[in-house]
Amino acid sequence: MSSWNPHSWQRFPALQQPDYDDPSEFEGILARLRRMPPLVVPEEVARLRGLLAEAVTGRRFLLQGGDCAERFKDCTPESIEGKLRVMLQMSVALTHGGRKPVVRVGRIAGQFAKPRSKPTEVMGNRELLSYRGDLINDLEGNEASRRADPARMLEAYFHSSATLNHLRALTAGGFADLHHPERWELPGGTGGVPAYRRTLDQVRESLDFLEALGGVQRDVLERIDFFTSHEALLLPYEEALTRWVSEEGGYYNLGAHTIWVGERTRQLGGAHIEYLRGIRNPIGVKVGSSATPDHLVALLERLDPSQEPGRITLITRFGAATIRTALPPLLKAVQATDHPVLWSCDPMHGNGTESANGLKTRDFSAILSELRQAFEIHRAHGSHLGGVHIELTGEAVTECTGGTEALSEADLLKAYETGCDPRLNGTQSLEMAFLIAEMMRG
Ligand code: PEP
Ligand code: CO
Repeated sequence: MSSWNPHSWQRFPALQQPDYDDPSEFEGILARLRRMPPLVVPEEVARLRGLLAEAVTGRRFLLQGGDCAERFKDCTPESIEGKLRVMLQMSVALTHGGRKPVVRVGRIAGQFAKPRSKPTEVMGNRELLSYRGDLINDLEGNEASRRADPARMLEAYFHSSATLNHLRALTAGGFADLHHPERWELPGGTGGVPAYRRTLDQVRESLDFLEALGGVQRDVLERIDFFTSHEALLLPYEEALTRWVSEEGGYYNLGAHTIWVGERTRQLGGAHIEYLRGIRNPIGVKVGSSATPDHLVALLERLDPSQEPGRITLITRFGAATIRTALPPLLKAVQATDHPVLWSCDPMHGNGTESANGLKTRDFSAILSELRQAFEIHRAHGSHLGGVHIELTGEAVTECTGGTEALSEADLLKAYETGCDPRLNGTQSLEMAFLIAEMMRG
């Protein structure tokens, strides 16, 4: 294997990269980014790696979730608080029902780049470059806005840092304190998920009891961990946020705590895998139906040569109709190695459909079915599912059908706001968390 450095990926074919038309502008932006302070620090990254290692052995459960594509315009207190709130509510359901502490990782503060199946799309009678996420171009459908604009990399950095700053202030400032019931309400009231109210009451009772015994310190309850993640797609941006950490003698991507490689860019001889193999962060690998056992094992050797627990999370995303045939051969191949991977399930990306009115959607029951099968298949093979990866938002959007609100295809038109894939709304997310908690108990 040839030597690695933060730009060695440039010697390999890089899929899904935009064409920037002004090289000096592009280089100038990257030079500024390289001088910016990091968004996260290595100690936090190492802490996450340790927590994920505990999830590998079944002592914790990973909840990773957030937008498919974050938008600059949604960098608002309401949107950030909504996502944090729903993730915290879900983790109460998971910890209480599943009897395990939860590691929370948002698709947030940097989830701005999207892989696309086609480089162009037809809108009306015009063929435009595809939208690739706010890091690269603008969703608005005209030629100027679809140009790849390098200044967006700097904007993405500042939007990430504003988002992260608010998340840090909220988590440090007691936003997650269970003693404040008003912070734990769902946007539409808790009527939609009755199990949630019961759980909250039980959790508070247990806390009061422990506090009465002098067993829990308030600061422990008030302080929570919340980590950030995004897809490592636009490699010049990722490279600019890659920093040498001398205390550790290694390179870290300090633009997020963990980053993942998508289904479309995990070629063994590709630039994305070359980039990821050299950084010390925990890494996610999306695994869909196109992955063969040999490919997966080769990827693990490349990304995790020292077989380190917490280093690799395999995020499977097959679809409810395919997981039963697709997962077992991959699972067995990984079990035959000594790589201590964390298995997570993304029940979103294999279950996309198109509604009669032409909107991308996913049905709650298909998402649930893939999750249920994932738990069963792991158990049947002496393995365990240690996490979930979900596209969600705290807001009352109507993008996925089904759930207790029984959203129909006609309802999708009411509040369809995603810039890319359909997300579970706040109520659907919490309801899903209760169902997952049941599955965790088996
Ligand atoms: C995503 O997570 O938004 C995504 C594009 O996933 P995948 O690479 O699994 O298709
Ligand atoms: Co998506």
